Amino acid sequence: MYRMSMMPMITAEAIMECVDALGAKIRRNYEFDVIVGVLTGSFIFMADLVRKFPRQDLQVKFIKASSYGDGTRPGELKISGMDLAELKGKKVLLVDDILDTGRTLQALAAQVKAEGAVDVKTCVLLDKPSRREVDFQADFTGFKIDDKFVVGYGLDYAGEYRSYPDIWSLEDAG
Ligand code: IMP
Ligand code: MG
Repeated sequence: MYRMSMMPMITAEAIMECVDALGAKIRRNYEFDVIVGVLTGSFIFMADLVRKFPRQDLQVKFIKASSYGDGTRPGELKISGMDLAELKGKKVLLVDDILDTGRTLQALAAQVKAEGAVDVKTCVLLDKPSRREVDFQADFTGFKIDDKFVVGYGLDYAGEYRSYPDIWSLEDAG
């Protein structure tokens, strides 16, 4: 059994400031054609992030990647919901909620490149560097956090907690 921490780990206000800074940094460093959110955890982050790029021609797409099944340990990666061939010849920004082992984004970025995207850069709101199992870094990172399982702002535990505006860590309740 798990319960939420007493206080949020990252408040909605801090997230807002961070997304603002991330947007500014990306605007300075990467001109992309398509922004691709990795469902489901990135849906709120995407909604906030895309509005930092108010352009007529910006393409917004989502891809489904699930690796966590019903628990907090990684399982097999499943990719669906989008034809990666749509990204051929494009500059792509891949967006996920959190970088953990690194397996999801590493595999996705490699597949997008293999499908003929001319450039692929990655952006994550959260990064747990101590959990990395493969040699992978995001190009744009919001917060580096300790090895805690976190929920809220789109992130779930077994499908729950996604709609909380702040980010909370889950603690073992025995
Ligand atoms: P990775 O492939 O291990 O880097 O896993 C990344 C995916 O695992 C993310 O897209 C999340 O869906 C999920 N994930 C990893 N850590 C957490 C967490 O602390 N809370 C919620 N989801 C997580
Ligand atoms: Mg995810």
